[in-house]
Amino acid sequence: MIQRPRGTRDFGPAEMAGRRAVEQAMRNTCHRFGFGEVVTPTFEQAELFTLRSGEEIVDEMYVFRDKGNREIALRPEITASVIRFFVNEMSTMPKPLKLYYVGNCFRYENPQSGRYREFFQLGAELIGNDNPETDAEVISLAVECMRSTGLHNFDVRIGHIGILKSLITEEIEDGAIAGNVLRMIDKEDFDAVGQTLEANGISGSLLESITAIAGTKGGVDVLESIEETEAHEHLRELFEILKLYGIDDCQLDLGIVRGLDYYSGMVFEIDAPKLGAEKQVLGGGSYTLSELFGGEPVFSTGFAIGIDRVMLALEAEKEAPEYAPMDVFVVPTEDAMRKYAFAIVSKIRARGLRADVDLMRRNMSKSLKYASSKGARLAVIVGKDEMAKRSVTLRDMKSGEQTLVPADLVAEELEKALENQSSEQS
Ligand code: HAM
Repeated sequence: MIQRPRGTRDFGPAEMAGRRAVEQAMRNTCHRFGFGEVVTPTFEQAELFTLRSGEEIVDEMYVFRDKGNREIALRPEITASVIRFFVNEMSTMPKPLKLYYVGNCFRYENPQSGRYREFFQLGAELIGNDNPETDAEVISLAVECMRSTGLHNFDVRIGHIGILKSLITEEIEDGAIAGNVLRMIDKEDFDAVGQTLEANGISGSLLESITAIAGTKGGVDVLESIEETEAHEHLRELFEILKLYGIDDCQLDLGIVRGLDYYSGMVFEIDAPKLGAEKQVLGGGSYTLSELFGGEPVFSTGFAIGIDRVMLALEAEKEAPEYAPMDVFVVPTEDAMRKYAFAIVSKIRARGLRADVDLMRRNMSKSLKYASSKGARLAVIVGKDEMAKRSVTLRDMKSGEQTLVPADLVAEELEKALENQSSEQS
């Protein structure tokens, strides 16, 4: 037997129905915020990602040479592609541009629960500015997307990479060492930061400043506990606007570094605490990439949600949507009735209801058993005596109650019965 590659998954119909429902809820939210969907290629020139994504992502990239000897990468994320698309074709459009996307990404990581080599993101990019109001709009969209999935338990943390970046680049001239130090802070490995600074003859007081900034966590007021920077006013205004958007439970966390190198301003993350090690369901922030790709310098702010992790978090909260592939099952009582059953199922489908018919030539009781295993709420029984009177029997699969209805009106009657069932349930 051929197995699927490590770190990839197959999704069956029940799981896909749940994933699509969650994805659709988030798509609707993007539309409500005025974001339009874009689709970019699954593979790009590798350079698109090596230019600025950072060592960590580049190490994990699937890269290969195509038949024309071009270096190609499977996308490890979608932000760089969206900005390339913007620079290529959309740079003259009125700003801000509000774009969102859903797609698969590839990273050669060590697979475990919540960490895969192929995973799925829904993300959004607002291209146009880096002011507090654009940051607030993007964070607000992110929070509303999370709320729309039905997830109750998630924490929003907001920071500003500019504070740590300017401190570190002021004190460490070598860009490679500065980058390493930032990655160590991201992993909260301050011992390694200390050792690196010492090994490179950099003053120990830098470590103190780094730990003070990275440890600045709590309500927005904790900003007062560190020396005033350019980012302070930005963050205060941002928290103020978020409050107006009805989001008042975000935490400030100046220790957020992010795994990708392109961020320059506000950064934020959302965690689902029930998930344990891989609890980060969303990451984002503000950055400039357009200039690097040959365009005008334009600030953007965006985020991406890990759909796989959202599904795990919903499961942990027992909020995963239930799946029933059909509403109505049509059962002929004998072989001679099959031709009527096909005509009837076709009429029901044309009405927009989800309907199925026996294809296995089963007898009636086995057919009804199959229908209930598929979650059908109603069955239509097509029998000889009833058809002689141009009628069929509607059976409520839960109560077993049966009613005779005219065959011509079966679709309308089913619709009414399904509506009645739904209103009784709610
Ligand atoms: P990221 O933090 O690398 O950011 O990924 C975003 C989310 O994708 C993560 O929070 C996580 O939920 C999910 N994710 C990442 N790697 C994996 C994996 N191996 N398996 C399962 N889920 C994973 C970005 O990708 C940026 N492009 C976000 C962004 C958009 N920043 C600005 N605009």
